[in-house]
Amino acid sequence: PSTSLDLRDEILRLKKERNAVILAHNYQTGDIQDLADYVGDSLGLAYRAQEADADVIAFCGVHFMAETAKIVNPGKTVVLPDLDAGCSLEASCPAEDLKSYLKQHADKNYYVIAYINCSAGVKALCDVICTSGNAVRIVEQAPADRPILFVPDANLGAWVMEQTGRKMDLWNGSCHVHMDFTRESINKIKEEHPDALVVAHPECTTAVRLLADEVCSTEKMIPYCQNAPVDNIIVVTESGMLHRLQKEAPGKNLIAGPTERCACNDCHFMKMNTLEKLRDCLQSLQPQIDMPADIREKATAPLLRMLEQSK
Ligand code: 13P
Ligand code: SF4
Repeated sequence: PSTSLDLRDEILRLKKERNAVILAHNYQTGDIQDLADYVGDSLGLAYRAQEADADVIAFCGVHFMAETAKIVNPGKTVVLPDLDAGCSLEASCPAEDLKSYLKQHADKNYYVIAYINCSAGVKALCDVICTSGNAVRIVEQAPADRPILFVPDANLGAWVMEQTGRKMDLWNGSCHVHMDFTRESINKIKEEHPDALVVAHPECTTAVRLLADEVCSTEKMIPYCQNAPVDNIIVVTESGMLHRLQKEAPGKNLIAGPTERCACNDCHFMKMNTLEKLRDCLQSLQPQIDMPADIREKATAPLLRMLEQSK
C-alpha cells in the first residue's frame, strides 16, 4: 500500500508540474478512477476534453477516446498511458473498408452516423458521430430524406432502430466484451436474485437486451441505480463500472452481470492502463496522440455536430 500511496503522490505532483488534467472512463481500474479529475462515459469525456484548459490531457481510456480528445481540443498535448489500448469495435471497421463500401454504394447517398468507438479515419468519412448516451437523439435529427448507414456497432444500431423507429443499414461490428454476456448467463443470475432489476449497455446483443429493465450508457446507469426502487441491481457491462456505481449508489447491492466463463467481464484494452503507466506518461509526455492534419480536420465537423446536437 505504501508504494501505491507514493505512486499516487507522484502522479498528483507530476499532474501539477505538467499542468495536466486526468480524464478517466468508467471502465478504468478503481485506483485510476479515484485520482482522476473527471470520470465518465464517452460523451461526458468528449465535453470535458473540449473545455479543458490545462496544457496536457492525460486520457485514461482507450485510443479512440484519446483521439477524440485531440480532435476536439487540438492545441493540447494528449497522452494515453498505453498506446495499445484499442477497441474491438474500432477494429471491426477499418477506414479503408468503409471508404470502399461508400464508394460501391455511392448511389444511396448515405447519411453516415458513426458510433464514437471508431478511428479518426472513420470519423473523417462520416456526417455525424454519436455515443451510447446520445445515439437516439442524434438519429432523430438525421435528415428524413436520406438513408442512414450506422457504423460500426450492429447491436447499438439495432437498439437505436427500435427506439426511434428509423430504419438504418448496419455495419457488422461488435464489442467482444458485451458479446460475452448471453441470455443463459443473465437468466442464471436473475434466478439467483429474482427481485433484482437489470441494467444493460446497448452494446449487448438483442437477446440480452430483452432481459434488461433499462438499457443505457454507462453514465446513465448512475441515476438509474440511485433511483431504483429495489436494492439488488444486475449491471450488464464491463466490470470497472461497478467501482463507479458503488461510490455513487452506496446503498445498493450492485451485482456484476456474469458471462458463461466468468463472474464479471473485463475489457482487456481498458485494463492496459495502470497507475505506473499513468505516472510514466505524465513524466515523459509519451505516448502522445496525434494524427495527420487532414484526417483531424475532416473528423472535426462530425464530432462538433454531435456535441452541438446533443446539448
Ligand atoms: P459509454 O460511452 O456508455 O461509456 O460506452 C463506452 C464503451 O466503450 C462501452 O463499451
Ligand atoms: Fe471497445 Fe468493448 Fe472495450 Fe468498450 S468494452 S472499449 S466497446 S472493446
